[in-house]
Amino acid sequence: MSVRVTTCVGPAVTPHRDDLARLRIAVFRDWPYLYEGDLDHERRYLAAYANSPRSVFVLALDGDAVIGASSGIPLGDDGEAFQAPFRTRGMAVDEVCYFGESVLLRDYRGQGIGHTFFDEREAHARRLGGFAWTAFCALERDADDPRCPPAYRPNDAFWAKRGYRRQDDLFCTLWWTEPDAASERRRKNRPPTASVAKRPCRRRAAGKSGSLGSPNSPDLPPTHLVTNAWRRSRYGARIFSASECAHRLRFWLRPLDA
Ligand SMILES: CC(C)(COP(=O)(O)OP(=O)(O)OC[C@H]1O[C@@H](n2cnc3c(N)ncnc32)[C@H](O)[C@@H]1OP(=O)(O)O)[C@@H](O)C(=O)NCCC(=O)NCCS
Repeated sequence: MSVRVTTCVGPAVTPHRDDLARLRIAVFRDWPYLYEGDLDHERRYLAAYANSPRSVFVLALDGDAVIGASSGIPLGDDGEAFQAPFRTRGMAVDEVCYFGESVLLRDYRGQGIGHTFFDEREAHARRLGGFAWTAFCALERDADDPRCPPAYRPNDAFWAKRGYRRQDDLFCTLWWTEPDAASERRRKNRPPTASVAKRPCRRRAAGKSGSLGSPNSPDLPPTHLVTNAWRRSRYGARIFSASECAHRLRFWLRPLDA
């Protein structure tokens, strides 16, 4: 397989929108993300990037197929949920270039494409100019979560080697629907386990499914799993379906010219 990497700035990503949506849904279905993909949400998310002329998508292509992608956007052009933690800390939002995510199909991993994604996005930030920091956020899961596959290898060492440092006081909370236990078992053809079936945020949806992305919350319950009553007390009745779970993401930062 021969992979080529190309960079799309701003609206240039639009022709790839549906391929990217499918890729994100496929990769983020797995641990640790467990994201029950929603094409409409994906299209809105990608449109927000395409609407910023300073955003970037680094695409990895095998022939015409998009097999990997990585995104970046000036934090000032991104949503309030991502900006607020930086403001609270007293950092200038305009000095941060935010990296959205990297996704690569499993068969193409371990060949250096993940490093290329960082190289290209950091180069884009330098070309734009004016940034002191590059940043991204990473999902945190309970260390004893029974859904973690035995062979799972976290990315922390990779990120640390690239000069990124985990920030204890910078995090945001996003909400998304996780696949329910029964559909995951069918997908993976695995027998049920009691601990997975019992997890409260894996309930079936009541009403329409919700969207990824929400306000920040400094005080999630310890397990990061919340009840509807807790959600209402915190956010009011407006937003979340019963199937959505709160997910805490921690920011990692690196000085751009370090
Ligand atoms: C994160 C991701 C894009 C990395 O892509 P990749 O092309 O496999 O990464 P690279 O080949 O550039 O490797 C990066 C580092 O991880 C190491 N690595 C990669 N796969 C590994 C594996 N299976 N076991 C051990 N180390 C591995 C590499 O050796 C390298 O470390 P090094 O610099 O010390 O050599 C890819 O794994 C992925 O899509 N993961 C799922 C989605 C995700 O977690 N995204 C990140 C958060 S949004």
